[in-house]
Amino acid sequence: MAGTGIEPRIGVIGGSGLQRLLPEGQGEELDVATPFGPTSGPITVGELGGTGVAFLARHGRGHSVAPHEIPAKANVWALASLGVRAIVSSTAVGGLREELAPGSLVVPDQLIDMTRARGGDERRDTYFGAGVVEHLTFADPCTPSLVAAARAALARIGEVAVSPATTVVIDGPRFSTRAESRWYRSLGGDIVNMTQYPESALAAELGLGYVNLSFVTDTDAGVASAVDDEDAVDASRVFERLAAAQPRIVAAIAAIVAAVPDDLRLSSGIAREHVDAVLAMAPRV
Ligand code: ADE
Repeated sequence: MAGTGIEPRIGVIGGSGLQRLLPEGQGEELDVATPFGPTSGPITVGELGGTGVAFLARHGRGHSVAPHEIPAKANVWALASLGVRAIVSSTAVGGLREELAPGSLVVPDQLIDMTRARGGDERRDTYFGAGVVEHLTFADPCTPSLVAAARAALARIGEVAVSPATTVVIDGPRFSTRAESRWYRSLGGDIVNMTQYPESALAAELGLGYVNLSFVTDTDAGVASAVDDEDAVDASRVFERLAAAQPRIVAAIAAIVAAVPDDLRLSSGIAREHVDAVLAMAPRV
């Protein structure tokens, strides 16, 4: 529990452009030390629509942490250590299909991991090993009941989210070549992003629910209409569109947070004592 007395029930990880979830001056900022080093930035604990939330900007304050540098193990551990049951994440994504135009909201249910985890230990995709053998059940990287709840919650506020959908996750920080992009589409990808993995797997390893809200900022390089197109992927365009969409994204996140059921039940195949051992690890200072 944080000093506010608020018990955060849901962790929210804000993607590019989502630096703040609660109004200025609301909530308490915490620096949570973890066994895996520092998180991307401070965590704000407060209430969103009556629900206790812990908010973390994935790319840090002022967007200073690049996708391949995100300390995903520290971020997820920190939120779990605050007692959250589920993570609602937001990400900017490129569309791999014409019909997923910029401005579309997507609630993916599947992902294809195309990362090669070239970062340091931060970007590794498991808490286990070194004598503790665990094999995560990851058939559904986004918790199915939360995907359904998110879709319904968005419909209630008048947003039609594209769902189900498959995210292809790449390392970044560069965007894809046209050939890579076409390949991702041929694999069944609908959207492409740099951060939904390993975050989602790490959350599952710690027994947390995970649901993602993706905002399409651009049309990825392999989509035919992207040639000289004003929607073609480009970093400044991505950030511009995210900034303009902030209020819409915050409202969508708030609706999803409110829809997370209290009695969330998950089965990840990981032994509870192994999860508890990870959560009991001493923070590194
Ligand atoms: N994030 C936003 N747009 C993207 C794209 N086209 N590829 C990868 N990550 C993205």
